[in-house]
Amino acid sequence: MIKKEYGVVGCPVSHSMSPDMHNDAFHHLEINANYKPIHVEPSGLENAINMFRAVGLSGFNITIPHKVKVMKYLDGIDELAKEIGAVNTVILQDDKFIGYNTDGLGFLKGIQEEFGILNNKRILLIGAGGASRAIYFTFAKETNCSVDITNRTIEKAEQLKQNCKYNIETNILTLTDAEQSLEKYDMIVNTTQVGMSPEVDDIPIILSNLKQDVIVVDIIYNPLETKFLKNAREQGARIQNGVSMLANQGALAFEIWTGQIPDAKRMEKIIIDKLGGK
Ligand code: ATR
Repeated sequence: MIKKEYGVVGCPVSHSMSPDMHNDAFHHLEINANYKPIHVEPSGLENAINMFRAVGLSGFNITIPHKVKVMKYLDGIDELAKEIGAVNTVILQDDKFIGYNTDGLGFLKGIQEEFGILNNKRILLIGAGGASRAIYFTFAKETNCSVDITNRTIEKAEQLKQNCKYNIETNILTLTDAEQSLEKYDMIVNTTQVGMSPEVDDIPIILSNLKQDVIVVDIIYNPLETKFLKNAREQGARIQNGVSMLANQGALAFEIWTGQIPDAKRMEKIIIDKLGGK
């Protein structure tokens, strides 16, 4: 049987942990396939996609800065990815490239695996950029939770709410208002890059008055424990870092390509090892 080829397309892409995650899963599940980093400059994206067609690449992930622009070169886009307005996974299906977005679903899967099904919970999202958009639309489509949004630039949060066609209860808050109403929330999620290495002393909001049993999540994975998560843990919150979302978005892409469910915990371990954590 011919070896199938996959890859991750980005600029830069050499730091990506996806090749390690996917090649390990191919090996572990005895699938004859290979996954490699593919460096593509912004100006070369269209040519690159044409070349992928010519060589019959079986599928690929897309990362910064191509997630939005790639959409116009594909033959079809899944409904949720279309709503999110970005694609991170492409599969060659009947000679057509079809785009998906597994970021929000990967986040949701990681949360539900660790903390159980979220039923009617009140959630606060911090941030209104690309990552927040993927998580917000996924929660709106897939859950019955209410999701409030707080952001430094409040207009961007308003826009996110207005752009969502799925039925969801949402309030928009300033960062200060959010800080004063944290006791309402069952889960608080930082989707901004505030606190990411090397700015490890920054926090997106000050945590206080947390609900008992609250879940606090940071989608940052470097450092593994941001100052925000450390503060949450010290106040008794259950916490999760960004490794879970990263592994699970990859696991869902793998499932789209192969129809097989990889071991997401193995993927998490590979990421943590690469980051030098325990
Ligand atoms: P991503 O794709 O990672 O979500 P993005 O689309 O650039 O990145 O969005 C970045 C998010 O982090 C935004 O919500 C941004 O707030 P603004 O909309 O006000 O720009 C937020 N963010 C980035 N740096 C920030 C900072 N120093 N303080 C507060 N919020 C910040």
